[in-house]
Amino acid sequence: MTNKDEDPNKKIPGEFYISSDEKDRIIDKFVSELLLQSEIIKKQRNAIDHYRKKLEEKEAGDPSIEIVVSQEETSYNDVGGLDDVLYKIKHFEYGMTHAGTYTHFGETPPKGLLMYGPPGCGKTMIAKAMSNELGCWFLEIPLSTIISEYVGKAEKNLNNALKMAKKTYEDSGTKVMVFVDEAEQMFRKKGRNVGHEVIDRCVNVWLRTMDGMGSNEGLIFVAATNYLESIEPALLRAGRFDYLIEIPKPTLAGVEDIFVKQMGVRERKAERQIYCVSEIENISGRMYDVGMTGADITEVLKRASLQCIRDCIENPIVKDIPTVTDSLLMKVINDYDRVQKQKRKFGFDVGNG
Ligand SMILES: Nc1ncnc2c1ncn2[C@@H]1O[C@H](COP(=O)(O)OP(=O)(O)OP(=O)(O)O)[C@@H](O)[C@H]1O
Ligand SMILES: [Mg+2]
Repeated sequence: MTNKDEDPNKKIPGEFYISSDEKDRIIDKFVSELLLQSEIIKKQRNAIDHYRKKLEEKEAGDPSIEIVVSQEETSYNDVGGLDDVLYKIKHFEYGMTHAGTYTHFGETPPKGLLMYGPPGCGKTMIAKAMSNELGCWFLEIPLSTIISEYVGKAEKNLNNALKMAKKTYEDSGTKVMVFVDEAEQMFRKKGRNVGHEVIDRCVNVWLRTMDGMGSNEGLIFVAATNYLESIEPALLRAGRFDYLIEIPKPTLAGVEDIFVKQMGVRERKAERQIYCVSEIENISGRMYDVGMTGADITEVLKRASLQCIRDCIENPIVKDIPTVTDSLLMKVINDYDRVQKQKRKFGFDVGNG
């Protein structure tokens, strides 16, 4: 037999022998490790690019504001005790949904909505529900992300945020709700901001923005405040935030409506019955007597649920999952009220419950 005819798998004594199957396995392993490495490198490179872009944006003065579609799943059906308010909101919405009809009568639709009233009564909730019902994007502009110690930067940040809103509308064709919560800060009366002149300059940006007729297409302006008297009056004139709605503290019937609706929201989320409550009127009456707002009612329901959660965890052998009962709710309401009164006595602001 010549060299050419030699069996390739023939073992040579003293030499390290690898079968062809083993060779394939090693090569496969090597290749998959290589692929994994290259995937990691790719991810690292993407991350570096991402941070470099963010850094560049930051240097260019962009505020870290994110445009997000409201994911709260809040709808008008969840808002309790405010039927009159929702009726007025509907009329404001006509300006967006039936703008042509306004033009037909030579009128311009309202441009901006300002909700005012005591804390915890549903202003932010209504704004979110409105963005969901209108199917628009929701962009909140908080003063804290706009403000900057550098001269001129705050106005630039605000302009950038508004530009971002316009661009989102142009790119997606979907309207954008620009929302300013705690508007008494962003829209504070001009000339009263000694040492904080930056606020005056931001108010000027808003005045210019609201006056920029055609350029605001696709934007819906909504703001909320606890202090209407602190808002710059020029911003409330026609063609600016000219649609004012008061969101009052709930009446007795309102408290009952909120109570029932909030229980519904929680049971919907849990997809089961949580409440075994027969004294709705009694409980609502107690809530009303101690002056509860929607936020307080939500907090009471949360505390009652937390009590049941603790019971579940601490008594796992009990067969029935505990439900929220009349007596538990009454106890939580009384405890909550006692703490609120104590906080008030010591000067804490308990506006939000
Ligand atoms: N009318 C209402 N119907 C149902 N739930 C309500 C109502 N008002 C308040 N709530 C509950 O209280 C929570 C807080 O309310 P919200 O933040 O909307 O109050 P707000 O008026 O914006 O208060 P603030 O002035 O302090 O910003 C809501 O998320 C909701 O769970
Ligand atoms: Mg709010």
